[in-house]
Amino acid sequence: MNLNNCNNFKDFRELAKRRLPRPIFDYIDGAADDELTYARNTESFNSVSLIPSVLKSVKDVDMSTTIFGKKISMPVYCSPTAVQRLFHYQGERAVAKAANKVNTMFGVSSLSTVSVDEISSISECPKMFQFYFHKDRGLNKYMLDRAKKAKFDVLALTVDTITGGNRERDLKTGFTIPPKLNFNSMLSFAIKPSWLFNFLTSPAFELPHLQNHVDEGTSAVTSIGSYFSNMLDQTMSWKDAEHLRSNWDGPFALKGIVSVEDARKAVDIGCDGVIVSNHGGRQLDGAVSPFDQLARIVDAVGDKTDVICEGGIQRGTHVLKALSLGAKACAGGRLYLYALAAAGQKGVEKALFNLRSEIERDMKLMGVTRIDQLSRGNLNFN
Ligand code: LAC
Repeated sequence: MNLNNCNNFKDFRELAKRRLPRPIFDYIDGAADDELTYARNTESFNSVSLIPSVLKSVKDVDMSTTIFGKKISMPVYCSPTAVQRLFHYQGERAVAKAANKVNTMFGVSSLSTVSVDEISSISECPKMFQFYFHKDRGLNKYMLDRAKKAKFDVLALTVDTITGGNRERDLKTGFTIPPKLNFNSMLSFAIKPSWLFNFLTSPAFELPHLQNHVDEGTSAVTSIGSYFSNMLDQTMSWKDAEHLRSNWDGPFALKGIVSVEDARKAVDIGCDGVIVSNHGGRQLDGAVSPFDQLARIVDAVGDKTDVICEGGIQRGTHVLKALSLGAKACAGGRLYLYALAAAGQKGVEKALFNLRSEIERDMKLMGVTRIDQLSRGNLNFN
């Protein structure tokens, strides 16, 4: 199996599994508790069916959309995800360049392994900075200033990581940042020599937004769960979100909303977007899936803010279903992370181009040429 025969999400996942040491693969692939929410995120798309129309003259398709005031060429973007240089030595650089090629948005995490400044210098497409609200207020200010200086377009405050999710695969493998070899994981690293070679011959692992402020995750080894539980501020409230919003001049979004009531509050504090998400099932297992809540949230706030459906997306038809319910766009992490792990920038490009051609084909088969022609009328809810 190689990149050329990766036609879909499952193929990229399979290739990533072959390339990555098990603890790193499981960090991407795993979710909380029994991983029920993670599975439901994708399954929920099967609860509705598409009703195609025919004889609609569909030769030329325009799948562009505008989110947060920025036009993107396709209705899918790359969600911010942490520590990408562990997945492939090119890390966030690969995702930035691939998103640039496709001309879509991508997010950079507070816990990224490449800085916002460097990312800005290699990318022209719209960029989101994902913000974790730390106890250390100096660090919060530093990250905000750095994202502003790097001219990031959108600030997204993650609100669903108030404590670490129970990711039992990570407990089992002992996954940490920076990665640490222990007796159990030694073999899983040793049997992936090309990953190991690239990792050991690349510049040392670092988290450029954090390392001058906190030891955890850089010089001090921690798990992601402990990082969330110990470094992030569990007193974070609507007041803090509102304050952050007022300190950011551009578009602002809350990432990790699934409640209608919270979506309304997000609009009240001036959010330009609501990212409907349960963190890829990695936080509260048993939480509702984004697609299952999407219609309610669109009905409540869709005329006032951009509603994004994040999580579970593996196919073009998933995107069309979410857009038909009223989402402005879809986003995901694993949809490009397995591809990053499989083949760096080329992998991410292929994953995005695959999705793009699926969406184009599916739009033609649905009988639409623009995404504003999709509506609930083309869905069957039985
Ligand atoms: C995770 C964080 C870092 O889900 O977003 O692992």
